[in-house]
Order: sequence, then C-alpha cells, then structure tokens
Amino acid sequence: MSTELRVGLVGLGSMGRNHLRVISSHPDTILAAVADLDAEAVEAAVAQTSVRGFADPLAMIREVELDGIVIAAPTTAHVSIALAAIERGIPVLVEKPLAGTVDEAIAILAAARKHNVRVMVGHVERYNPAVLEMGRLLRAGWLSTVYAVTSRRAGPFPARIRDVGVTVDLGTHDVDMLSWIVGERPVRVYAETAQRIHAAHEDLTFGLMHFPSGATGFLDVDWLTPVKRRSLVAIGEEGMFELDYLTQKLTFTRSNVERPQMIGGYATTFSGDVADIPVVNLEPLRAEMDEFVRVLRTGDRPYTDGEDGLWAVAIANALLTAASERRPSTCRTCPRGWRHDDNRFQADTRRQLPGRSDNSPGQCLQSLHAPDCPALDGRGRNRRQSRCRRGRQDGATTGSAVRPARLGPHGRRREPNRRGHNQRRSLSRNRGTGPGRESRGGPRRRASSRHFGRRSSRSRG
Ligand SMILES: NC(=O)c1ccc[n+]([C@@H]2O[C@H](COP(=O)([O-])OP(=O)(O)OC[C@H]3O[C@@H](n4cnc5c(N)ncnc54)[C@H](O)[C@@H]3O)[C@@H](O)[C@H]2O)c1
Repeated sequence: MSTELRVGLVGLGSMGRNHLRVISSHPDTILAAVADLDAEAVEAAVAQTSVRGFADPLAMIREVELDGIVIAAPTTAHVSIALAAIERGIPVLVEKPLAGTVDEAIAILAAARKHNVRVMVGHVERYNPAVLEMGRLLRAGWLSTVYAVTSRRAGPFPARIRDVGVTVDLGTHDVDMLSWIVGERPVRVYAETAQRIHAAHEDLTFGLMHFPSGATGFLDVDWLTPVKRRSLVAIGEEGMFELDYLTQKLTFTRSNVERPQMIGGYATTFSGDVADIPVVNLEPLRAEMDEFVRVLRTGDRPYTDGEDGLWAVAIANALLTAASERRPSTCRTCPRGWRHDDNRFQADTRRQLPGRSDNSPGQCLQSLHAPDCPALDGRGRNRRQSRCRRGRQDGATTGSAVRPARLGPHGRRREPNRRGHNQRRSLSRNRGTGPGRESRGGPRRRASSRHFGRRSSRSRG
C-alpha cells in the first residue's frame, strides 16, 4: 500500500533504538515523532532522524497526528502511556511485558475495549522465523501430543532494568511461548527464585507450569549467566524440537525407541533421526513491525494481542506468588469476561502469523516422514543432516506441504516400524492413561484454569 503510516515512538533506550531503526527503515512506516524523559536520548534521535522530539510522551500523543505508537519505555511506565494513546484512539504496540502487574494490564485492555482500539504486545520471539517454522510443523502434526517444553533464557546482568525482576522482564517471553506451543494456558505453576545481584528484585527463576492437557513446562530465566543463552526444547510423542532463538537454528529428532544403542549390554542411549529444519533467517523485530502495519491497516486482531500480554503478565506474577508462598499457585485470578476465559488460545490454537503460508517445506522436512528418503540411511546413522543441507542447496524445496503423518484414532500419528506394527502405540497401551494425562481425580478441572494467582483450595494442587 502506498500511504505510509505515521508511527510515534516512546522510549529511546536499548530497545527503543531498535524500534527506531526498524520503523525508519520499514517501507510502510515513517517515524513521525519520538519521546523520552532523557533529553540527551531525544536530542540524539532527533539529530539522527530529523523528526519532532518530546521530553513528555503525553505531549507527543496530544500534539502529533499518529496512526500508531510503539511504547518502549520501562515496563512500569507502559500503562500510563498506553492509556493516553488508547484514549485518543491510537493503536499501540507495547513492548513486552505489557505491564508490570495484572491490574495494569487489565486497565490497558479495559481501555482498549472501551475505545475499540487495538493493542499489540511485543512478544518478539513469536516472530522468530525458527519459532514460526516450528509452529507450522506443529500444526502439521509433527508432535501430536506435547509432553513437555523447557526453555532457557539467560544472560548477563542488565544494570539498566530496575523496575521489575527477571520473571516479569524475561520470563514473560517464555510463559507466552510455552503456552503457545502447548496450545493452552497453565492451570498450576510453581517457582523457585533467587536474588543475587539485583538490588530490588529476583534475578533467577526456575519455574514449572502444569497445563490442562498434562503437558509440563519448565523455564529457566536468569540475569546471572555470563553469556546470552536462548533455547527451547519441546518433546512429544513423535520426537523433539530443539530451537536456538539467537542462531535461529531448529532441529527435529524423531523418537526411535526401537533402535537403542547398546553399551555393555545396557541400552543407555537411544539414537534418533535428526533433521536440520531449514529456516530463512530474518529479524524478528522487523516481522513484528510488519504485523503492526497489518493491524494498523486492517484493524484486525494482532497475532500477539493484548490478551496474550495479559496472560504472560498473569502467569509470571503467579510464578512469583508461588515462589514467595513456597507452594504451587493455582492460576485463578485472570479476569473473567476476556476472550481467553476458557484457557485455550481461542479456537485457533498455535495460530499462524497472518500472511504466512503453511506450504513451504524443504526436502529434509519430508525426509523425516519418508522411509525411502536418501537423507535417512536406515540404520539410524547420522548422515541425514548433510543430505538435508544438500537438498536445500539443490533448491529442492517442494511446493507440497509436509507429508502428513498418518493419523490413527483421535488424530494421533501412526508410523509403522520395521516389524510392521506400531510399537509406539503398544507402548502407549502399557502406560495406562498415557503420560501427561490426568489419570486421577476425575475429569479435568477446566474451570480452575480461568484464573491466576493465589490458590483457591488445596485440592486443586
Ligand atoms: N522484546 C524484547 O525482547 C525486549 C528487549 C529489551 C527490552 N524490552 C522491553 O522494552 C522496554 C524498554 O527496555 P529497554 O531495555 O529499552 O530499557 P532502557 O532502560 O534501555 O530504555 C528505557 C528508555 O525509556 C526512557 N524512559 C523512562 N521513563 C520514561 C517515560 N515515562 N516516558 C518515556 N520514556 C521514558 C528512559 O529514559 C530510557 O531512554 C521494557 O519494557 C523492556 O522489558 C523488550
């Protein structure tokens, strides 16, 4: 579309400068104005871009004609700036976390609902191309049942972040991501936290999340690790995804329980068939801006909307409650009346980023499902990755979707093993109701999933 959208930017710190670059270089946006309490930061941005600069973000919101606003001020300042923009009918892209507390996040959503204004949250990891590719494969049925997801987000201490601790600052990425992968929100969480360097808040959190389907989530976030680490592992019935957010590397290892490596007569390890999933690298923040542009143009619901932001803040705060009370926190304080009140990611679980096609797998994606594919040597040896890469260099991407897994009853995938029967299914039968199932206590208590925070009753624990 030809008309450029006028976007204002509040906050010109570490993240704000990234937004400044992306807004300024995006073909559909022009940076219309900037605001920051720090005069030097404003001066520098004005010198770089020649746009109007403001020391008061509310003045910018009042005085400049804007199509949208990006808020990259510190977390505790999000609510006042977002409310001012929403009251003037301006859609906002609020950096994650949406707010520091559940009440502030609710205030933002209530105002957005009242004024019919879109709120997008900057859960930028959901725009990571490796994550989007994993989402596509999940939708294609590569893990029919997700057993567990673990994530690690660690790095050096960021002295500038003083207003919130690591759980709300970094953990919101992960609680959102884990919920998205599992396709539902957790009903119970537990956490241990530590405060080693930060003057006011925790700088390490190990959190556990229990989902209604029985999936388990674990997140490890800290500001104590000397180097940045950003990784995720999702395991399920058919295998395991491993993802590195920083390198945008994604692999899938197929479960291969029938080929144990015997060492001294003991089956100590199991080798899996590993495929390097091709990912076209791109900057997640640019993809996030593409989505904000789409939302501004169409008025549609954002891919990462305010409600995702509210849930992330609520789950992060539930982890903190659990850590301080030293007992699991039943998630029960998320407000009723929001679209997420049935705990699911609405009907479109693991929803797709609008505009992305689900039909672009490379050859090595197919190899995992095709026993005759040259990428697999049939003996579990690890020569498939180079084949996969070669397939890619040959330009051998197929226009067809991933070969769909054969589905058994209840949509579970069936893949016959060499002996011609489905060993995985027979294993399933031996494990009673199956891993991850709520085998005791009767039907799942969906109602308890509606809310986060303090426990309502021990029986739910
Ligand atoms: N999406 C991500 O991966 C990601 C990464 C980093 C930070 N963030 C988020 O971005 C936000 C900013 O973080 P940062 O690392 O850039 O912090 P920062 O401290 O580097 O920058 C914050 C800037 O906001 C300015 N500021 C402070 N109060 C303000 C106010 N009331 N109005 C306008 N400006 C104000 C400060 O002067 C500073 O220039 C935080 O919410 C943070 O969680 C997100």
